Order: sequence, then structure tokens, then C-alpha cells
Amino acid sequence: MTNTPEQPETQEPAAGQSENVPYMRKIRSFVLREGRLTKGQQNALDNHWPAFGLAYQSTPLNLTEVFGRAAPVVLEIGFGMGKSLVTMAQHAPDKNFIGIEVHKPGVGACLGDAAAAGLGNLRLFEHDAVEVLNDTIADSSLSTVQLFFPDPWHKKRHHKRRIVQHDFVQLLRQKLQIGGVFHMATDWQNYAEHMLEVMQTAEGFANLSATGNYVERPEHRPLTKFEQRGQRLGHGVWDLMFERIS
Ligand SMILES: C[S@@+](CC[C@H](N)C(=O)[O-])C[C@H]1O[C@@H](n2cnc3c(N)ncnc32)[C@H](O)[C@@H]1O
Repeated sequence: MTNTPEQPETQEPAAGQSENVPYMRKIRSFVLREGRLTKGQQNALDNHWPAFGLAYQSTPLNLTEVFGRAAPVVLEIGFGMGKSLVTMAQHAPDKNFIGIEVHKPGVGACLGDAAAAGLGNLRLFEHDAVEVLNDTIADSSLSTVQLFFPDPWHKKRHHKRRIVQHDFVQLLRQKLQIGGVFHMATDWQNYAEHMLEVMQTAEGFANLSATGNYVERPEHRPLTKFEQRGQRLGHGVWDLMFERIS
């Protein structure tokens, strides 16, 4: 998958909307691309969405009912094509996994792999993760939140689109249990520094890095496609892990 194209934030008023009313629009961390679905992805969506798919709803879901058991819940934001999420779910059958992605071909690809692996501990949303977290995920219900290689929004004027912001990390704090961990990884140094800055000033979190900044890539995080690409390009990779302490 390629990086999300960076587009200007201005948007024309919708048809019927008065030109005089300022058009308010939420700043989102993604731009939906018209990705073509392969036959395999379409088949996976047709056949496996009923078993793995979860719909956004405006009230919190009971996750014990969703998975049919109580177990620590790992939630991944923006899983891309889902390869690393499926691998992690396979390697940790004692945990429940939730993946959230807006890119339909990625959801289709992840469904195909999840079904082929016969996973019972994975569910997926095709929706904006910020809305799902706000409304559909109960407070203090998550043991881990994973954010791997989020869109870096390179240009300074687009930095406000970066998903890691003060309000966003307080939303995650609310959804994590005390002792739960927010794990980020990026191959973009400027974004890593931004993540560190936001997290160091975020109330209620403690850095799990012994050196007060980054952690070694934990064994349980598989190499993602983006990371492999970054390695080929000679990029560094930065992992950050913060625990909710209050
Ligand atoms: C750069 S890609 C990385 C994908 C994957 N984590 C990897 O390492 O290969 C970032 C992904 O985040 C998704 N994304 C961005 N903002 C999102 C949001 N608010 N909710 C759900 N997915 C989002 C994008 O659609 C994109 O697939």
C-alpha cells in the first residue's frame, strides 16, 4: 500500500449548503482512497464479514459478549493490509484482538488471512478509529492499543492531521485499563519526535523506555510491510510504549 496522498484541508460547501455559512469539517487522519478491490478481497468481504465484522454504534459494545469470553483486548488502529495483526492474533490465542481500518481493500485482505488462519480471537471494524474509540469502545476495556506506522503527514501544514495529538491520547487513556499500554511505531523521525513530545506531556502515562525516549522493537511486533520498505530505504524505526498509570 502506498502512503495516503496529502490533500489540502479546504473543502467546497456541499450542494445546498449556504456559501455564507462557514463550512466546519472535522480534521481526519486519513483521506479515503478509491482502492480497487481484488476478487479475493471482495470474496473475503462477502464470505467472512459476518463472522469477523463489527459495526460502528453510538453506544459501547460488550466485548465479553462479542468474543464469547473475557480476555485481555488488544486494539490496533490502521492495520493496513492486516498481515501483522493476523500474525499477532495467531501468536497470542489467549488475547482478543480488534482491528480498525478505513481502507476497504485492507479490510478485505485482513479478512481473507484471518479466515484462512481460522482465527476466533479477531474482530474488525471498517470505520474511523477515532469515532469507534469515542463511541463503541467502553472505558477501561483495553489492555493494549497499537498504532503502527500511522500516516506521517510529512508537510508541516498537514501536521494537524497526525492522529497522535493531545486530545487523542487522552481518549486512549480513557479506553485503556490502568496498567494498559499504548504502543506506537514509526519510520519517520519527525513523527517519532512528535509522538514523544505529545506523550511526555500527556497526563496519566509513564514511559516504559529505560532511556526516557524509545524502546527496542518488542519481539511480539512482527515486521510490517511499511517497516520492510523503510528498512530497504535505510530508514530508522522508532518504537514508543507508554503505560496508563492513572
Ligand atoms: C501508513 S498506513 C500503515 C498500515 C499498517 N499499520 C502497516 O504498518 O503496514 C496507515 C493506515 O492507517 C489507516 N488510518 C489512518 N487514519 C485512520 C483512522 N482514523 N481510522 C482507521 N484507520 C486509519 C490508513 O487507512 C492506512 O491504512
